[in-house]
Amino acid sequence: MQKILLSDLKNGMITAEDVFSVDGQLIVPKGIALTENLIARLFSFDIFSIKIEDEILTTNLTDADFTEISYAEKLKASPDFLAFKEEFKENVDKLEFSLNALVEKNAEFDAQSLLSDTMGLIERRDSPTGIMDMILNMHDYDDCTYAHSLNVALICNIFAGWLRFSPAERELATACGLFHDVGKIQIPPEIIKKPDKLTPAEYKIVKTHPLESYKMLSRYNLPDDVKNAALMHHERCDGSGYPYGFTSEKINRFAKLVAIADVYEAMTSSRTYREALCPFNVITHFENDGLQKYDPAFLLPFLENVVNTFLNQQVRLTNGLEGRIIYINPVALSKPTIKVGNRFLDLKELDNVEIEKII
Ligand SMILES: [Fe+2]
Ligand SMILES: [Fe+2]
Repeated sequence: MQKILLSDLKNGMITAEDVFSVDGQLIVPKGIALTENLIARLFSFDIFSIKIEDEILTTNLTDADFTEISYAEKLKASPDFLAFKEEFKENVDKLEFSLNALVEKNAEFDAQSLLSDTMGLIERRDSPTGIMDMILNMHDYDDCTYAHSLNVALICNIFAGWLRFSPAERELATACGLFHDVGKIQIPPEIIKKPDKLTPAEYKIVKTHPLESYKMLSRYNLPDDVKNAALMHHERCDGSGYPYGFTSEKINRFAKLVAIADVYEAMTSSRTYREALCPFNVITHFENDGLQKYDPAFLLPFLENVVNTFLNQQVRLTNGLEGRIIYINPVALSKPTIKVGNRFLDLKELDNVEIEKII
């Protein structure tokens, strides 16, 4: 092992210790073969010298040696994803047409046909859990109310499967997700699409949508759970929700399920006022104040299963390093262990490093 000045570093040299910034942020872990990018990264942190192993990799490594096609790129190029995307777009268009007919009190609204199309979107796939990946990668397509509703319906379907609901209840959960926000189409688009913070008066208008949804759905012969899930999907178990401030025992169980799917979908998709959040940030959010607001009997299985869909995926960390998720810690779901090069980083042990992006 030898200590070496940054200006003398060369590609292929192997770090002999973890290199930290002055504020304790891990910049490059031990055992990593240096590349031009990593050396530039060390310079950017004003590091003066680092310890490296005596042996040096003889082949001249470039950053290209470390870049493989990301999972997201592979998924987006796959025939199954392209077929899903086409069907998704068709379903969103049909949903838009039908829900507008609903607002205009036109009798053409056919809830069963919309639901059958949504069920078909899932049932035609080989791996239903893969839908969660597809949804995340569909977010750059469209985030209007209609696409949001279809996404929430798909998430509710997968979620109900994780909760071992019967096939009939699973279909019911899907319908609850599909129609939960119908009342939103009554709200002026300039409020729904407003890029800035809503004024108290505008927020008051937005908060009418659960009751509006309930009233609209009540005109049709739909299961009570579908209407109640729409009415109560913004209620929270600690009484902090709206429109009535109901606590856990008064909230419909399908509304509890939709509430979780709805927040997860909204936070992982981009909005006019913010970028999409990484699913791991959303999981941290749920871990921090979720157990008071959402029913733990639903929330815990949801988080555990969502996190497991990311096992083996490639991620970028907030310290710039990239690696693969190789172990999910059941007591710290948002802090898995990442394999970076030939090193293992347990995020639970590293206070200031988080997953920034799934790549
Ligand atoms: Fe809503
Ligand atoms: Fe929603």
